[in-house]
Amino acid sequence: MKKFLAGFVIVAAGFTSAAAVDGKEIFEKNTCAICHKETKDAVGPSLKTIAEYYKNNPEQLKNFLKGQADPIIWPDKFNMMKPQMGKLKALTEEELDALVDFMLKH
Ligand code: HEC
Repeated sequence: MKKFLAGFVIVAAGFTSAAAVDGKEIFEKNTCAICHKETKDAVGPSLKTIAEYYKNNPEQLKNFLKGQADPIIWPDKFNMMKPQMGKLKALTEEELDALVDFMLKH
């Protein structure tokens, strides 16, 4: 009985965390969409542009989001993106992966 309960708790916990990590939601919750539109370049490059630059290199995109890689798209406009990086520090590895997946789907 004890074993059965423990298994149930693990399955339930796995289910909630999978449901909680949604790249789109993270993107919207952190107000990234104000400057990054789906397909049209605006204040920042569109998600489509970001995906074009990074589609073969998701690891590098993740490193950029962690502040460990230089910007490659519009480096001269990075001063506008830089203050946003602080929000990304609060994200877990799992959330960063979901965010990368979401952006690269465009
Ligand atoms: C105030 C406007 C603004 C907001 C809000 C914003 N960005 Fe940006 N972002 C920019 C600008 C401008 C650039 C272009 C500079 C650059 O290439 O780094 C950029 C560039 C980027 C790049 C491309 C980096 C590269 O290699 O050049 C990524 C990825 C990115 N932003 C992700 C995000 C995410 C994720 C969020 C939400 C946490 C976010 N941005 C919020 C303005 C913004």
